[in-house]
Amino acid sequence: MPSPSMETLVSLCKKRGFIFPAFDIYGGLQGVYDYGPLGVELKNNLKAAWWRSMVYERDDIEGLDAAILTHRNVLKQSGHEDTFSDPMVDCRSCNERFRLEPDDALRCPKCGSTDLTEPRPFQLMLKTIVGPVEDSENYAWLRPETAQSIFVNFRNVAATTGRRPPFGIAQIGKAFRNEITPRNFIFRVREFEQMELEYFVHPQEDAKWHEYWIENRLDWWQRQGLASGNLELFEQPAAELAHYSKRTVDILYRFPHGTEELEGIANRTDYDLGSHTRGQSEMSLHARVAPNAFSNTRLAYQRAGESQWIVPYVIEPSAGVDRGVLAILSEAWCEEHLPDGKTRTVVKLPAHLAPVKVAVIPLKRNHSGLMTKAKAVKAYLQSLGLGRILLEDSGNIGKCYRRQDEIGTPFCVTVDFQTIEQDNTLTLRSRDSMVQTRIAVDRIGDALSDRLATSGI
Ligand code: GAP
Repeated sequence: MPSPSMETLVSLCKKRGFIFPAFDIYGGLQGVYDYGPLGVELKNNLKAAWWRSMVYERDDIEGLDAAILTHRNVLKQSGHEDTFSDPMVDCRSCNERFRLEPDDALRCPKCGSTDLTEPRPFQLMLKTIVGPVEDSENYAWLRPETAQSIFVNFRNVAATTGRRPPFGIAQIGKAFRNEITPRNFIFRVREFEQMELEYFVHPQEDAKWHEYWIENRLDWWQRQGLASGNLELFEQPAAELAHYSKRTVDILYRFPHGTEELEGIANRTDYDLGSHTRGQSEMSLHARVAPNAFSNTRLAYQRAGESQWIVPYVIEPSAGVDRGVLAILSEAWCEEHLPDGKTRTVVKLPAHLAPVKVAVIPLKRNHSGLMTKAKAVKAYLQSLGLGRILLEDSGNIGKCYRRQDEIGTPFCVTVDFQTIEQDNTLTLRSRDSMVQTRIAVDRIGDALSDRLATSGI
């Protein structure tokens, strides 16, 4: 099935309530989006799947939810204040300002002019004033990655959990970047979410763990429904590595606008823990930070029975939630030609990611007998903890099915007159096969629990 165009996805997201341009009643804010009633469910389900696989299903990773406002010294020592920038170019003909991609021709993307300024670095971090006095000293950064707050909490987490490497700290949260040219819907935005793991290892075991996490993450995305043919690994050339990285391998996905980064898996060495550690000389770490802004903490560990301090290396799988949502919607979307000559749009989300798991539909609108029964079935299914169960009372059953297909609901349950007048059975309809079966009300819970568990990936 070919990928949908970006226009198709943007329109579906708006029409059905997945994603809206933020502040559109005021003309919008570029590079900022809101997740609507279905989008928030999909996003939460994706984050929950990541958290489950990182924190609950393993015994070597702890969770964290740290502050977004970030102390300026953290991002000074991490190197972001000095190096976290993109090359920016202005067009002298039309005044367009744009970010220069590595392979871009030196030509304005708007008017085609080659009369451009020299590229100059553009700071990507967003600043805010903290406290009542608005002067140049009282600022904090909105974090550009969740990673730094994990590094500065290394000792807190290690001490309170008794962990020693190899172990990891996982965090999901917002990050902010003043992207010069946000584009491609939610692919490159100014406010986004990351799912980041910082996995701390002995310095001599970095290469082994890096390979491990590359494989693990590629496999995980496939378990979220992304086809292996749409995913590929990309070894970042040495010249393009971030200032902290020894080696980075990206997981690329074939998005509607092109094949681009979904997640990066970096070997950050001891760069970050070293940078946030006081007393670099005694530990022979990098001598690259101003002496007046060191932390007062040693972010290192000792092996059992050894006195030597070791600064762990960090392997970092860092995934974008928004890019994940875009990839998953793009992969799941399809248009099917039906035997009666009609077509249907169906979003074949894996059940564990679907915003609505089951729609309960009374056959006729505003019918109190059907509605009473449908409400009872909905309440019962909701109590099983399967996820969101929706009561859909819009009357036209064909339209209801089409709407549920388009939002990816794996199953519909219809309450009709046979249910309330004859045999207490319901119609269970599957999104993908469109097969309908009758099933007794007292079996519906088990039937749906089984089907939802097995139709996930
Ligand atoms: N801590 C490492 C780090 O932040 P990154 O490659 O800059 O590395 C990691 O970002 C992931 O965050 C990317 O793979 C992407 O999925 C997501 N991401 C980065 N910038 C983004 C943006 N402007 N909009 C949406 N997602 C973004």
